Amino acid sequence: MAKVLVVGSINMDLVVETAAFPRLGETLFGQGFATHPGGKGANQAVAAARLGAEVIMLGRVGNDAFGQQLAAGLKAEGIDTRWLGVSDSATGIAAITLCQADNAIIVVPGANALLTPADLDTAEAAFADADVVLAQLETPLATVEHAAALATRHGKPFVLNPAPAARLPEPLLAQCTLLTPNEFELATALGRPDADWQTLLSALPGRVVMTKGSQGAFHTDAAGTVHRQPAFPVTPVDTTGAGDTFNGALAAFWHLGLPEAIRHACAAGALSVTRPGAQGGMPTLAELRSFLGA
Ligand code: RIB
Ligand code: NA
Repeated sequence: MAKVLVVGSINMDLVVETAAFPRLGETLFGQGFATHPGGKGANQAVAAARLGAEVIMLGRVGNDAFGQQLAAGLKAEGIDTRWLGVSDSATGIAAITLCQADNAIIVVPGANALLTPADLDTAEAAFADADVVLAQLETPLATVEHAAALATRHGKPFVLNPAPAARLPEPLLAQCTLLTPNEFELATALGRPDADWQTLLSALPGRVVMTKGSQGAFHTDAAGTVHRQPAFPVTPVDTTGAGDTFNGALAAFWHLGLPEAIRHACAAGALSVTRPGAQGGMPTLAELRSFLGA
């Protein structure tokens, strides 16, 4: 398994279950409430760790109960939290409305917004040590750019999951070994909202894996030919974190090369949606192997 360095967010997910999304000004009764560990960075770190990867997490939590709980949770997953910072601010949260396995999410970054390029410099040894560096867009862009620069300096592949959707500056794009957007995030990242995804994939041959929900994942090889990995059919309970599971697994299986890593990542993502919570359902290596019949 690859040694994975994750630079990213750590949130507590506050999940409300409802039979319908409320309209503006409407009050509804919900069917359930739960708190689950989340945040795109932490989710990706946990996904990789469950699969047996050695994982280091660089991020920030707040000096509060959620922060302590989340840091302890990452440790319990076997993740190296040596460089986790604690800020005098609230821990990041995500207010999630879950409606028949679909969701709507509002993220309040809190301490995640305080992860600085200087924090990454303090942990430069982790970049030197990693096989692959994985980041998302729930921490400041300057920090993501610095992660890319440090990965490049140490000759390490830099995988960016450009979520939530945002336009990527050209120099950052140039430093990404691989981008892992969904269809909307791809168009947004490249600033081409009107282009079709096939055109955009072909514009970055060998450098994009695009997830497309129940249709699976698409990527182009270095020659520009588009390939599809079909999704594994499952009955979804909660799709929150499916993309994160895909990313964590992709990094964990980096050594297998793209097509095989993508197949494993799609299978891991499928399993993750069968249980509640972003991190619930993320498979262990044994669970993944038995699902793949390997
Ligand atoms: O990708 C899912 C994650 O996005 C949730 O866990 C939530 O914290 C938000 O960051
Ligand atoms: Na899940």
